[in-house]
Amino acid sequence: MKAHILWCAALQAWISVGAVAQLCLQSCQLLERESLQVLYASTGGPSWIARQGWSATGSSTNDQHCSWSGVTCCSSEQIAATGQGNLSCSASGGVVALLLPRNGLLGSLPDAAFQGLSNLQYVDLSGNSLDGTLPPALAAAPNLILLHLGANNLAGTLPPSLFSSSITSIQLDNNQLTGSLPSMADATALAYLSLSHNIMSGTIPRDLFGCPLLSEFNMDYNQLTGTIPTGNQTSSDWLGNIIESGTFALRLRGNQLTGSLPLSLSYLALEVLDLGVNNLTGEVDVLLANMPYLMSFIVDDNQLQGTLPEEFLTVTLRIFQIQGNNFSGTLPASLGSQRSLTAVQLDENPISGPIPESFIGLEHLTIFTALRGTLQSDYQDTAQQPGALLPSFLAFDLEDYSDLSHDFAAKKELGGAYLTCPALVQNNNQLAYLDTVLIDPYYYRYAYCKCSSGYHLFLQADNSPPQCVLIQGRLSTGAIAGICLGGIFALAVTILGTLYLLGAFWVSLKALARRRAKMQGPPGNGQPLTLLSTDVERSTELWEWNPTAMDAAIRLHDQIIRKALLACYGHELTTEGDAFLIAFWEPADAVKFCIIVQQALLAAAWPEQLLTHVHAASRTTSALLQDAMQASRQSKSDAAGRGDVCLEDPAALQKQVHKADTVFRGLRVRMSIASGTADQSKKAVFCWIQAVFETFPEVAVTQARAGFNKGSRATHTALQNNF
Ligand SMILES: *[C@@H]1O[C@H](CO)[C@@H](O)[C@H](O)[C@H]1NC(C)=O
Ligand SMILES: *[C@@H]1O[C@H](CO)[C@@H](O)[C@H](O)[C@H]1NC(C)=O
Ligand SMILES: *[C@@H]1O[C@H](CO)[C@@H](O)[C@H](O)[C@H]1NC(C)=O
Ligand SMILES: *[C@@H]1O[C@H](CO)[C@@H](O)[C@H](O)[C@H]1NC(C)=O
Repeated sequence: MKAHILWCAALQAWISVGAVAQLCLQSCQLLERESLQVLYASTGGPSWIARQGWSATGSSTNDQHCSWSGVTCCSSEQIAATGQGNLSCSASGGVVALLLPRNGLLGSLPDAAFQGLSNLQYVDLSGNSLDGTLPPALAAAPNLILLHLGANNLAGTLPPSLFSSSITSIQLDNNQLTGSLPSMADATALAYLSLSHNIMSGTIPRDLFGCPLLSEFNMDYNQLTGTIPTGNQTSSDWLGNIIESGTFALRLRGNQLTGSLPLSLSYLALEVLDLGVNNLTGEVDVLLANMPYLMSFIVDDNQLQGTLPEEFLTVTLRIFQIQGNNFSGTLPASLGSQRSLTAVQLDENPISGPIPESFIGLEHLTIFTALRGTLQSDYQDTAQQPGALLPSFLAFDLEDYSDLSHDFAAKKELGGAYLTCPALVQNNNQLAYLDTVLIDPYYYRYAYCKCSSGYHLFLQADNSPPQCVLIQGRLSTGAIAGICLGGIFALAVTILGTLYLLGAFWVSLKALARRRAKMQGPPGNGQPLTLLSTDVERSTELWEWNPTAMDAAIRLHDQIIRKALLACYGHELTTEGDAFLIAFWEPADAVKFCIIVQQALLAAAWPEQLLTHVHAASRTTSALLQDAMQASRQSKSDAAGRGDVCLEDPAALQKQVHKADTVFRGLRVRMSIASGTADQSKKAVFCWIQAVFETFPEVAVTQARAGFNKGSRATHTALQNNF
């Protein structure tokens, strides 16, 4: 296998050397220079902002145009001069980059110019006043890698040739493009696609999720209809993305999408999910609980319902915007445990109950709104009853700003409890605007607040945040006695309260620390440990049968396993051939890992060849049942003589088999889980396993299982495909 990989690498190197060897010599350079002059003449060249060299007539050297503003030719000096150190180019001497962003280009792009610029790889003409359509010759440029034409007035549809195998970045935001998105099946290098703020229609193409390197897809504010495509167990959709793109941002805000959020979105390593302002329905709790990398969850203004999950797999949530839906239930404490939260917007949902204490002390939270929902019970009638969440030195101010701007009056109608704007109302009716405000170290930032009576606003000279400071005054002895008693009582309450808060905080910190530890490495000595080993059924037979298909299949298999490790806090201890030995902190993580991997295996883009082998072909539930019944009949007749029937009753089996059509497809991977404690003696077993692996890989997998089980209170479960 190693020799094979080396050969592939050599082939690739040879291909790229071959590509660079192409030349753009005298006639090619003349054509390119004339094409640039056509571009200059038809896009208002004389009024461009940067146009050095472009108006020159005649030519002293063939590559004279290579030094014109925004033009880069393929030569090492030229490329070094642009600072784009990584720009590798396909034809020596040819024009590879045309970078004229925000440069006053005007009118439509002439197709003729781009017919002569066939070596173009990087084109950035964004922020100009270009109209007309995207020139077909530009979209079809054979080596095009980057095309940025955002913030122009381009109209028309996207030519399908744009989604070629070389393109990696397309940015056409803020134009007037129409039509639907062409097939992206060939766009195997595409990493970034942004078409927001156009008027494109049609549905989201299924093959989007097959682009293996795609990490951002932005079609905010278009007119897309239909549903969000679900994973398809019989095609390679989704899986390509699971494997290679790393984290993914999916932005489809402001379209007309319907249907529910498919659970298979959780395969995508989503970091940003913005589906706000659509017509989506259904529940999201299971999906939301299962997105380990999630940072922004934005689904405002849809018709989503159900409850919020009690647990989140992510620990990095920053933005949580679900306003304008029909979510119900209570606000889970686990949400407040996301210590990076900056914005939480819950308005207009029938979410009820208190705000959990886990929300206390969120350092980065700047927006917390829950208007016109039932959660407001704590602070809804703020005019009569200052919110329970307010610290003692602050009071809502509802009277003093009626004469302020219209904007404020509008917000007053919302109940005065609009917590987003960091402004304080001073006692003299003046607003103190603050960039950063630390009104309360524990709670959120409040707008329309004033200092409670007995406190005054203290503005510090150095522009640091103002504070509400207790007004000092002379007091009677009675008042002093009262204050002393009150003080003792308050002290007791404070101590108890602080202990309670510390306890709650400690619990949430512990949970967070545990997740961190789980991410960082496998459990150490003395800690509970779950070991999982995998191995591919009949791999030797398959290798002998078709090494090429098997090589590709094993690589796919390895990628699936490693990708799933990340999501389940698994740590690879050893790999040998197709077998993995993996350590988990908790059995539940190992089981989750099995489920993810087995589902991914079913959906993987296996080589067609592989699927023709009887032990790697697609098998359906019914075919499997027939096998089981036959095996049972066989074993009953065999057992008649020996009396050791142990196969399950096929009728019972039938009940267990779920409804999925396909239960096997591609490589079949056995998995076994053993759980116990990693103490000193087990550590010895580990070392032994490692050593044995290096010499006798075949034996080791079985031995490792046996060795670990021995002497531990182990549970042992064999997990087969479709477990
Ligand atoms: C070139 O690539 C390296 C690593 O891939 C990257 O760190 C660097 O920023 C790149 N330079 C430019 C100018 O893009
Ligand atoms: C899954 O994909 C295959 C091939 O792309 C297609 O024929 C089939 O209809 C799809 N199934 C579903 C449920 O969309
Ligand atoms: C969303 O759905 C509602 C009712 O289901 C419908 O009245 C409305 O027109 C839809 N909006 C869009 C933008 O499709
Ligand atoms: C909101 O969800 C509840 C179920 O939780 C449902 O009974 C009700 O009809 C929904 N309301 C709207 C406006 O969809």
